[in-house]
Amino acid sequence: MTEEQKKTLIKSQQGELDGVETYLMLADTVHNPSDRKAFKLLAADEGRHAAVIKKYTGTVLKPGKLQARAVTILYHILGKKILYPLMARFEYDAIPKYRALERDFPELESVINDEKRHGDTLHELAKNGEEEDIPKWPFILAAIMILIRTVQLVRIIRKFVAKIRQLH
Ligand SMILES: [Fe+2]
Ligand SMILES: [Fe+2]
Repeated sequence: MTEEQKKTLIKSQQGELDGVETYLMLADTVHNPSDRKAFKLLAADEGRHAAVIKKYTGTVLKPGKLQARAVTILYHILGKKILYPLMARFEYDAIPKYRALERDFPELESVINDEKRHGDTLHELAKNGEEEDIPKWPFILAAIMILIRTVQLVRIIRKFVAKIRQLH
C-alpha cells in the first residue's frame, strides 16, 4: 500500500463512518416511514463499508457528527426533493474513487455496487411524497422578502417625514 493509497483509504473510511451518523440522524429526523426504514439500511451499509476499509487501513476512527448535523439542517431547509438528489450525487461520486483503488483492494467491489444502489435509492425516495416534511425554504424566502420590503417602507416613511418637516 502506498502512502497516497493509505491517505485516500483513511479519508474514505472516515467518510463512510460520517455517513453512518448522517443516515442514522436522518432516520431519526424524517417522518416518512419508508425514508426512515431506507436510511437505517443505508446506515448499516455505510458501517459495513467502513469495516471493509478498516481491514485495509488497520486504523480505528470515530464517526464525526458535523456532516450529520449539516445534512439534517439542510433536510429541514431544502426538503427531500432537493436534498436527496444532492446526496445521491455524493454517493455516485464515491464510485470512481473506489474504482481507482479496486485493483489493489478487491473487497471494494461490493462497496462500489452499494454506492450505486444508494444513489438510486435516494432518487427513488425523493419521489415518494408519503408523510412529507414541509421544506422551510419558501418561508425563509418569504421572511427575507418581508424584511427587505419593511426596510424599504421605513426608508420611504423617513424621507416623507423629513420632507414634511422641511415644509414647516
Ligand atoms: Fe459507503
Ligand atoms: Fe453510500
